[in-house]
Amino acid sequence: MRPVAFDLADFRLPASEVWRVLADGEPGTAMPSWSDLPASQFRAVADYVLSLPATPPLSTADQWVPEPVLLAAGQRVFDTHCARCHGSDGAGDGPDARLYRRPPANFHEMEVSFAGAGYVIRNGVPGSGMPRWPLLTPAEIQAVTVYIRSFYHQSDAACRAESPASTSGKISKNGFGEEDVP
Ligand code: HEC
Repeated sequence: MRPVAFDLADFRLPASEVWRVLADGEPGTAMPSWSDLPASQFRAVADYVLSLPATPPLSTADQWVPEPVLLAAGQRVFDTHCARCHGSDGAGDGPDARLYRRPPANFHEMEVSFAGAGYVIRNGVPGSGMPRWPLLTPAEIQAVTVYIRSFYHQSDAACRAESPASTSGKISKNGFGEEDVP
């Protein structure tokens, strides 16, 4: 498939985004709408998808330099190579974003794992505007990943607040169902 299927294990999306894509499908890809599913199945599959990603922070032992240095280096890589599509604040709205049918990822709404980002940066996303970056070094890839993850963490709270409203009263604001328990 072009673009290839989105990697649900290595990229964390807010519940609102998972619900939107399940309900509407994703134009420009093979992903169809699943709005005909019975509500209980729709909720179950959304909850399952939300449970898949594992995007742990980089352990200190895996960091080549301290976090603030990584962040600053990551910002340099991002501003040089990525911002023209992904936007200087990572919202997917850079000056070249409109050249592509499928918009560049909005990093406020996607937490990438180090493995997932590394794969995408080395290989690109075939069938989309996301190019491969064969000349970036492993250190540059680590740094830019730390930097793009920082956008998600900045807007973590905002994303949760935007999650789909519950119609049954059983789903919490973040879609996980636990926080309503009195
Ligand atoms: C020429 C435009 C362009 C540039 C430059 C660009 N990207 Fe992308 N990027 C995209 C598009 C378009 C997508 C959405 C791909 C899709 O539809 O799945 C994307 C998606 C991504 C994703 C999410 C993977 C996914 O499946 O959606 C990551 C991570 C990413 N880009 C990182 C980067 C990094 C890091 C850089 C800089 C080194 C960069 N990109 C530069 C266009 C670009």
